[in-house]
Amino acid sequence: MCGIVGYIGSKSAVDILLNGLTSLEYRGYDSAGIAVCIDNQVELYKAEGKLQNLKDIVSAQKTHIEKSSIGIGHIRWATHGAPTTANAHPHSCNCGKVAVVHNGIIENYKELREKLEKQGCTFRSQTDTETVAHLVASKYAVTKDLTEAVRLATKEIEGAYALCIIHQDVKNTIVATRRNAPLLVGIGDNEFYLASDVPAIIEHTKKAMYLDDNEIVTLTPNSLLYIDSDNNKLTPKIEILPWEPVALSKMGYKHFMLKEIHEQPDVVRNVLSGKLRAIDENVRLDEVTLNQDKLKVLNRIQIVACGTSLHAAMIGKYIIEDLCGIPVDVEPASEFIYRRTITDKNTLVIGVSQSGETADTITAVRQAKALGSHILIVTNRPDSTMAREADSLVPVNAGIEVSVAATKSYMAQVISFYLLAIYLAERASKRVETNDLNKLKHELIVLPQKIEEILAHKEGIQACAKKFANAKDFIFIARGINFATALEGALKLKEISYINATGYTAGELKHGPIAMLDESMPVLSILMNGKVYEKILSNSEEAKARNARMIALTNSTDSKLDDLFESIIRIPDIDEMISPALAIVPLQLLAYYIAEFLGKDVDQPRNLAKSVTVE
Ligand code: F6R
Repeated sequence: MCGIVGYIGSKSAVDILLNGLTSLEYRGYDSAGIAVCIDNQVELYKAEGKLQNLKDIVSAQKTHIEKSSIGIGHIRWATHGAPTTANAHPHSCNCGKVAVVHNGIIENYKELREKLEKQGCTFRSQTDTETVAHLVASKYAVTKDLTEAVRLATKEIEGAYALCIIHQDVKNTIVATRRNAPLLVGIGDNEFYLASDVPAIIEHTKKAMYLDDNEIVTLTPNSLLYIDSDNNKLTPKIEILPWEPVALSKMGYKHFMLKEIHEQPDVVRNVLSGKLRAIDENVRLDEVTLNQDKLKVLNRIQIVACGTSLHAAMIGKYIIEDLCGIPVDVEPASEFIYRRTITDKNTLVIGVSQSGETADTITAVRQAKALGSHILIVTNRPDSTMAREADSLVPVNAGIEVSVAATKSYMAQVISFYLLAIYLAERASKRVETNDLNKLKHELIVLPQKIEEILAHKEGIQACAKKFANAKDFIFIARGINFATALEGALKLKEISYINATGYTAGELKHGPIAMLDESMPVLSILMNGKVYEKILSNSEEAKARNARMIALTNSTDSKLDDLFESIIRIPDIDEMISPALAIVPLQLLAYYIAEFLGKDVDQPRNLAKSVTVE
């Protein structure tokens, strides 16, 4: 969701900005722009729609624009005002000397705008961001110091922001700051980069520092001033970024999503590595700091998450309750934060987030922390805001995920929940026999080969995708631990193909949704051998009796399924408890092939953002 790039140094800025924005495209956006400074003039270039539109505008004037060795760039995901060129960032002030790019939401922008308009500012967009440009310009007119102008402006701004600002009267300088939105500074030789995420700068430098809330950095090609909001000087904490540029290549796959689906066997191996070393050894989670005293008083677990991470959390609930007997509640973070919650110091609160930057989840865990709960974060980004504020961390090690639709990060979260549940069972509960835990560990260790088997035989899934690609709606049914798989399968399909897909517990079908069934409705039953197999089978019979087009996803070899189902996707046999980690793979592929067949923009579906940094 929105992306920022900045550069200051001796190289031409334009390609660095455009390439940086390209590598942030996965975050989701609907317009783009850059600001450069040439012959002491700030110049803005903006376009609505895809980044290519901006690139076309820039390339028509390339020899002029490439003279600038300073610049800021932005891809915008519209919040205030339609995705038009006028609303695209950077924004400027009356005199055109300031340029601002912004991620986040300025909550008090209406009051600020009214005040600034009374002072004579003329607004050219409907955005909240433009208030920042006018505000900084008005502060600069008094202070004649850009850092101080930004510092004073942020005192008046409420809400979330990552901001990069240039002013044509302050040569060769970028000022940047943040509150509740990520921003990092890449450090090169007599040059600096700014970005809202690592991919935008990783091809240039691995040395970086993350800004924390309310910190301000002022960059020139050879100096870095780092202060807090009270003007105290801070010492930069420089880190080495763990990412490899190769992660950003499609490696021969048509889409990042397909590549990321195929990476899942190795993702499982990575998650297990070092944590599950041998079947007869306890699971190790080195960054979980729950000691025996804390575990003794732990009487409840509350998990908060959004979207796909929420589905991983639902599986987590199921496994932890089963293995540990500790009650677990799962709630969308966006609901949790707007009601009276009863978390306390005896509650373990788990936040699950691929990005670690989702605004609702950050707010939820901060609220729980204020009530004294221990906060454990399950995330793919150990460098994220959530991870940095956590008491305990389970890094899921999926590697960078570029496709907007989460696949391998979901797999890594689900596997992490198995490990966390076994970890808790080994330390906080003796409810499950060691032998049974060891069987689960064995199933996890052999899981990558079973995923590889599915990936090696995709033709059946492709054929099924082709057969059902023109459906207007899709229903997924399951029971028990795979209800979350049904929801996640449906979410993948609607996200990238825009087909209206819904997941139901199979038993609920006859309490309402069955009314929708007719010969045009595909119903996909997730039928895993185990406790609820026969139940789902009879729910599938009920659907078939209403003429629905039946698809089975199953590890059963039962030949009587052939009569009931029009299409059958078979997967290797697996223990019911671990089956969600295997059953999701064909559903990801089914969604992928349907979207690809329909010619959709698989990696960047419309309206979606990878990292949802606004509430
Ligand atoms: C779906 C998807 C989203 C995210 C959700 C939470 O494919 O990616 O539903 O799961 O926006 O994001 P994170 O996990 O980064 O908190």
